[in-house]
Amino acid sequence: MSIRAIGACVAMVVTTSVAAATGGAAAAADNGLARTPPMGWSSWNQFGEHIDEQLLVQTMDAMVANGLRDAGYVYINLDDGWQRHKGERRQQPLEADPVKFPHGMRWLADYAHQRGFKLGIYSGPGQTTCAGFTGSEGHEQEDAKLFASWGVDHLKYDSCCSHKDTPRDALQPIVRRMSQALRATGRPIVYHACHCGWADIWEWGAQAGANHWRIGQDISDDFDYPGNREKYYFDVLDMLDRGIALGKHTGPGHWNDFDMLVVGLNGRSRELVGAGASNVEYRTHFSLWALAASPLLIGADVRTLDPYALETLSNREVIALNQDPLGAPAEKVRDDGPLQVYAKPLADGRVAVALLNRGSATAEITVSPGRDLGEPWKRYRVRDLWRHADLGEVDIPYTAEVISHEARVLLLTPVPGSTAAPLPDSTTH
Ligand code: GLA
Repeated sequence: MSIRAIGACVAMVVTTSVAAATGGAAAAADNGLARTPPMGWSSWNQFGEHIDEQLLVQTMDAMVANGLRDAGYVYINLDDGWQRHKGERRQQPLEADPVKFPHGMRWLADYAHQRGFKLGIYSGPGQTTCAGFTGSEGHEQEDAKLFASWGVDHLKYDSCCSHKDTPRDALQPIVRRMSQALRATGRPIVYHACHCGWADIWEWGAQAGANHWRIGQDISDDFDYPGNREKYYFDVLDMLDRGIALGKHTGPGHWNDFDMLVVGLNGRSRELVGAGASNVEYRTHFSLWALAASPLLIGADVRTLDPYALETLSNREVIALNQDPLGAPAEKVRDDGPLQVYAKPLADGRVAVALLNRGSATAEITVSPGRDLGEPWKRYRVRDLWRHADLGEVDIPYTAEVISHEARVLLLTPVPGSTAAPLPDSTTH
């Protein structure tokens, strides 16, 4: 690795303020949950609707054995496909599929809770869900009570298909209705209002009681696919660009959700489109979701994760950035074509930066965290969170070498008393 101090000719200043970090919109409807981004596993990206009790049990057992639970991944979220019936709600009740889940949902929640997990479930405000299963329309209170009686801890309430074109004003009471129904149960249930990044949900989701909301359409298992696959899906970089620009709407209790992780899918998803990504690209994807304070929901089959993917998902130093109590989003502080720097201030005054090389050749990227993160110290202690290496004290600005599609993640600790940085040369991006 090469990090070297350079002159003040290239500089950028981290401008993220604590005000932005704590989320512009005060969440009047805050239910007190999800103070840090939810972490766990979700069934959709790998399995689609092909889910059952055995898969869930094996998933939890695997996450205990491979350390993912202890790394913080505690929400085990059933996505679409747990329901018994396809077709409209007015035609049939909402029930768990007794063939897929022979012991029922209460048993599954107990199994989860006994092992330190939480159980998530999925429904939507339409007559049917996206995969055509029975939805919750007109039965919000009844369904919230049912979920609570099962011991459910998280609900993904998906309006992507049933309300795609519903105007924002009409959608808000629909999202709020389930929020209030969940609240009325008295059970703490994290509420994901999934609306595929439409109707500017980040502007009002918190007020409607949501703990997280998707900032875009479904992710595909691609790092950088030209355009949108099938004119719909967003690859990792599409999602990043969209979500980073919305950072002011995220914060403790109300998070921008960049969609579930594709790390480890390797183009072999049963459900998602996409050709897969390289190990480095998956690691970059994980790093940026962590810095952006997105929920971290593993989408791969954790029973068969390859060692590299497991190591990626298990990096506790990177996870700690995601779970930092300040809850600040990453801000893009340098945008030099394919060479970019993202910075996330932390509660203890340190700053995490990701040096992202979107280009096709190894390049040097320069960073200069500055005055808006506190005192403008000239020297920082630097730790590389993927190499697990302390790089010593460096003067800023400084430069690091980054290979193609890599994101170097550095934790910067100001050295108190060091001389002020050369701020007059700094420019804000
Ligand atoms: C939508 C959502 C996905 C998934 C499916 C289930 O496409 O965006 O995340 O929940 O529905 O049918």
